[in-house]
Amino acid sequence: MNKNYILLNNEGLEKVTGELNKYLANLSVLYIKIHNLHWNIEGPAFFQLHSVFEGYYDDVAEDLDSVAERILTLGCRPAASLKEYVKLASIEEIDSKAISSNESIDIIQKDFMSMLEHSRRILELAEEAKDQGTVDLMAGFIAKYEKTLWMIKAYKA
Ligand SMILES: [Fe+2]
Repeated sequence: MNKNYILLNNEGLEKVTGELNKYLANLSVLYIKIHNLHWNIEGPAFFQLHSVFEGYYDDVAEDLDSVAERILTLGCRPAASLKEYVKLASIEEIDSKAISSNESIDIIQKDFMSMLEHSRRILELAEEAKDQGTVDLMAGFIAKYEKTLWMIKAYKA
């Protein structure tokens, strides 16, 4: 890995890019998983949650591109196959079956909490590596997950 072209010291960056690849894998699994919820949600909240989930997976699609391009900017290759994503991800897939609004919101809440924790872990690694670009990227994601989790809490109240 040569980061000289962006004037970054190599130290600590391998940990950052390794973790970013796991984050990318989590986003990719989440992208499909949220589609699953978007398709299989049933009940009186169908119309509302069907479109809320669409907003979520559109956001995830944008974020996964940003993460992959950050990995490339840091001189590494992003994982780029479903096979690798399933292997690297800690977010678990779910079967395709009818799901209630409560159940689907609980699943999304738990997964977004995991993404929030993962974002904070990567931010710390990036700070140690003096990688301000990744710190910044993660700070944006953290604020977004925090806001989304507030909205989910309000929905469930
Ligand atoms: Fe759709």
